[in-house]
Amino acid sequence: MTEIKTDLYLGDCLEILANFESDSFDLIMTSPPYADRRTKTYGGVNPDEYVDWFMPRAEEFLRILKPSGTFILNIKEKAVDGERHTYVIELVLAMRQQGWLWTEEFIWHKKNSYPGKWPNRFRDAWERCLQFNKTKKFNMYQETVMVPMGDWAQKRLKHLSKTDQSRDTSKVGSGFGKNVSNWLDRKMAYPTNVLHLATETGNRKHSAVFPKTLPEWFIKLFTKEEDWVLDPFAGAGTTCQVAQGLLRNSAGIEILPQYYQVAKENIKPKQYMLFEEAQYETHYTTGDHRLR
Ligand SMILES: C[S@@+](CC[C@H](N)C(=O)[O-])C[C@H]1O[C@@H](n2cnc3c(N)ncnc32)[C@H](O)[C@@H]1O
Repeated sequence: MTEIKTDLYLGDCLEILANFESDSFDLIMTSPPYADRRTKTYGGVNPDEYVDWFMPRAEEFLRILKPSGTFILNIKEKAVDGERHTYVIELVLAMRQQGWLWTEEFIWHKKNSYPGKWPNRFRDAWERCLQFNKTKKFNMYQETVMVPMGDWAQKRLKHLSKTDQSRDTSKVGSGFGKNVSNWLDRKMAYPTNVLHLATETGNRKHSAVFPKTLPEWFIKLFTKEEDWVLDPFAGAGTTCQVAQGLLRNSAGIEILPQYYQVAKENIKPKQYMLFEEAQYETHYTTGDHRLR
């Protein structure tokens, strides 16, 4: 029987992470405070100072992530004075300078974003999930997030063109090619990098919770059971809650006592994985194995 640990910490992640072992997490999944956005609930960071504020924390993330691990950063630039601010773009550039690889960008399409009218733009219905890695060889379990082939199989595959029947070498010289006919009889396909997920409604204890499906998708894709997941801006503890349910160890750090308390309420007491029977039980214990 193996204990699944879920460790919550109260404080600034910069200070708390200084006590964590290097190369100890398989996935960092987080949504930091957005620039200036929610000053009334949990404070904000001036957009012009965002990169300077984030980089010392990113340095700690780089240190504690395993070389095979992945960092998923959910973030979206706000509009300031009628135009999109550039702090996210600047952050990506600064992180590359710091040693991160900017591997991929996923789009979280918010299926149920509320209606509205703005004079110079439409309602914002997507956020970035930026993927950073320490090395090009990172763990990725693609089969865990496969999706049903769906309509595409019916329409496109029934009318295969000549190029689709043989290997279709990329026309833009990217070196990638595809053989669509390989997928003819398959029921499942790999997903795209656009995630169509509804935002979670009805959470009155924190104003910016993830829908559970968001961390769930990345945790399945980048970790296996008993791996370690970190959310350094834990809020109501959604990432840790989902990690626990998926039998991953996790640590969450939250600076505000009221949200730390909410996170504690959302996390079950310790979880155990039973080897022989495919089930698990919960028990009360304490532990802080991540400290160095
Ligand atoms: C966008 S919210 C995260 C919400 C979270 N994904 C959830 O599902 O509940 C960001 C959180 O980071 C916390 N925070 C801000 N600065 C922090 C810091 N330096 N260290 C740790 N937490 C911080 C805020 O109080 C806030 O709860």
